[in-house]
Amino acid sequence: EAAASAVADLAGRRVLISAGGTREPLDPVRFLGNRSSGKQGVALAQAALARGALVTLVAANLEVAVPTSITTVLVGSALEMHEAMTRAAGTADVIIMAAAVADYRPRSVQVGKIKKEDVGDTLTLELVKNPDILAELSTASRPGQLIIGFAAETETDADRLLALGRDKITRKGCDYLVVNRVGQDAGFGTERNTVTVLDRHGVIVNEVSGSKMSVANCILDLIG
Ligand code: CTP
Ligand code: CA
Repeated sequence: EAAASAVADLAGRRVLISAGGTREPLDPVRFLGNRSSGKQGVALAQAALARGALVTLVAANLEVAVPTSITTVLVGSALEMHEAMTRAAGTADVIIMAAAVADYRPRSVQVGKIKKEDVGDTLTLELVKNPDILAELSTASRPGQLIIGFAAETETDADRLLALGRDKITRKGCDYLVVNRVGQDAGFGTERNTVTVLDRHGVIVNEVSGSKMSVANCILDLIG
């Protein structure tokens, strides 16, 4: 277990982090969501702050509290996260997309509650693709800006998990990809995490298993 760094090695660095899971509204009372708790993203924000960084957290529906010392922008949906991240990206030195962003959203949001009487026995939802925030920010990145993505995968075979990660970083165009397995017993909602960090060539630069805080510090070690 790596101890939290006491060194202000990120002093003055502007670190933008997304955390949590987006919720895609269906009507005023319902949404499509995911099981991300936001724990890993909040741990990253806390660790970066402790190392002297100027942290902005874009938070979607967190299940954990955020220390008041962290500048936080609250968002709900993927489109809101897209807007908040795009706005803050310009001044960021480092961007970490730890959030679980919904890939699709309902094409239309009903103004009033969806009523069974109006629907009948089956309800078909039409979903449209959300913008890929990580891919967009990577394409738009300026020289010297470091962009780190996450890959949540349910693949249990280690080699196939790695292959998925290598494919994903090629598609995303970010500098590093933190690959973690999620599912029943791993990743989402748990206290610990096991990750493999790939660079843009698909080379493993780090493998960590431990508390989400120790994983956070290993990820922040990439900022050199
Ligand atoms: N991501 C994003 N915008 C999206 C979807 C994902 O910025 N619309 C980011 C996530 O925050 C994460 C990375 O992209 O950092 C990978 O997310 P993941 O869901 O693992 O990959 P996808 O590209 O969405 O592919 P798939 O879900 O099909 O595996
Ligand atoms: Ca996805």
